[in-house]
Amino acid sequence: MDAKSLIIFDTTLRDAEQTPGASLTVREKLEIAQQLARLRVDVIEAGFPISSHEDFEAVRRIANEVNGPAICGLARALPQDVERAAAALAGAARARIHTFVGTSAIHLRGQLRKTADEVLRMAVTAVEQARGFCEDVEFSPMDATRTDPAYLYEVVEAAIAAGASTINIPDTVGYAVPEQFGAMIAALLERVPNIHQAVISVHCHDDLGMATANSLAALRHGARQVECTINALGERAGNASLEEVVMAVKTRQDYFGLQVGVTSRELIATSRLVSRLMGIAVAPNKAIVGGNAFAHSSGIHQDGVLKTRNTFEIMAPEDVGLDDTEIVLTARSGRHALQHRLGELGYHLSGADLNKAYERFLEIADKKKEVYDDDLLAIAGDEIRQVPQKYVLEYLHAISGTGTVPSATVRLRVDGREVLESACGDGPVDAAYMAIDQAAKAGVKVEEYSIRAVTSGSQALGEVMVRVSKNGVNSKGRGISTDVIEASSKAYVDALNRLEMRIERSQQQTETV
Ligand code: KIV
Ligand code: ZN
Repeated sequence: MDAKSLIIFDTTLRDAEQTPGASLTVREKLEIAQQLARLRVDVIEAGFPISSHEDFEAVRRIANEVNGPAICGLARALPQDVERAAAALAGAARARIHTFVGTSAIHLRGQLRKTADEVLRMAVTAVEQARGFCEDVEFSPMDATRTDPAYLYEVVEAAIAAGASTINIPDTVGYAVPEQFGAMIAALLERVPNIHQAVISVHCHDDLGMATANSLAALRHGARQVECTINALGERAGNASLEEVVMAVKTRQDYFGLQVGVTSRELIATSRLVSRLMGIAVAPNKAIVGGNAFAHSSGIHQDGVLKTRNTFEIMAPEDVGLDDTEIVLTARSGRHALQHRLGELGYHLSGADLNKAYERFLEIADKKKEVYDDDLLAIAGDEIRQVPQKYVLEYLHAISGTGTVPSATVRLRVDGREVLESACGDGPVDAAYMAIDQAAKAGVKVEEYSIRAVTSGSQALGEVMVRVSKNGVNSKGRGISTDVIEASSKAYVDALNRLEMRIERSQQQTETV
């Protein structure tokens, strides 16, 4: 990597996976990691192996099965964490261990209850231990932006002397502002004698909406790795957005003068895949990947773009993977055409998954004249999710109308046993939810419900997202259908299945960050 190259470190599978309700199955993580490899990120932080058996397994499988990027596992600066990360990464062609410890006085006193010297020793020991397993070791002084600068320089110098090849500066609580953060990176380069033996990385959170701006300011002052996530997801308000950082550096090459290896044409496919698997919609006005990011609505803008594109466009939609032309599939299209188009959209299905997706495609193609990309994404998303199906919705009948009491009857398979229930409600969705809740004996609370049309026209597919909670555990479910009551019920049953999975997982889980 020459001095003018920027390393893109993706932490969607680790930091973004900490987003409430966004947890993924091992198979879903693998699917995202394969897509990140197609996007050609430099490093994939695949998870936090000690945090759960599932996370360990996801990191292990990604390390064994995903080629191209370096695969990284997170570890607190504790011997058991480093050991677990090393075990999960054993099969990787290029492994990185990322170890961290809080260094601000707030963290030392308020969480770790340790002295500055003790924490410095923890950092050095963890880096040395990690170096015993792999060459590529990253160290993060957590909450760096609220750490006493003199102590930060001392810890960074010691971590590099112990063998860290990347020093990551996290703005853990999103406290930094761009000018100050840039100056902080410049000061590290000036004050830490051995800093040139390591790559400086940044990891910015978006609590004040400045994560991308802070990351870019750091690049101007010598940082050469950015930690970021697809769709800016992550703990609380999220992390710096990968698509924004990449496109800013590419579009403003004149200003940043940095090379980035990411294949930007894969950005939209990656964004859509992450959004669907995590069940978190992308805001229409989200930079680069939002539905409106390349839509021109004012007459003056439309006129300008039609005459000369760059009047109102600084990036070409094709550069981020948006096609001007859409292949329209119909009921006459074959399995191969479906597989090809899904591949272009970032879903690489084969075997039983493809067969199921094709059956679903034909069902929809029979109801609609044309099946658009959004229909396909919805279908593929439905087929590749792998959540244990404790509850299966087998039958639904809902009645509503002016002057009638809305009611619903459902037949639910619960652990293989059929349960039939009926209920009345405030509307047909409410009635269906009550009937499902009675059949499942779930006792959950609906916290959020949203519905949107994923395609246009009166035969549009409706996509419902519902968030439920029980005893402080949350889960999100998603359902798709041309019938909105069915979509709502599927989303609710999906949320119940995910809730079961989360409850089981949290019982196995050890302490996380
Ligand atoms: O935000 C943070 O500080 C982190 C560290 C583990 C790098 O996610
Ligand atoms: Zn973070």
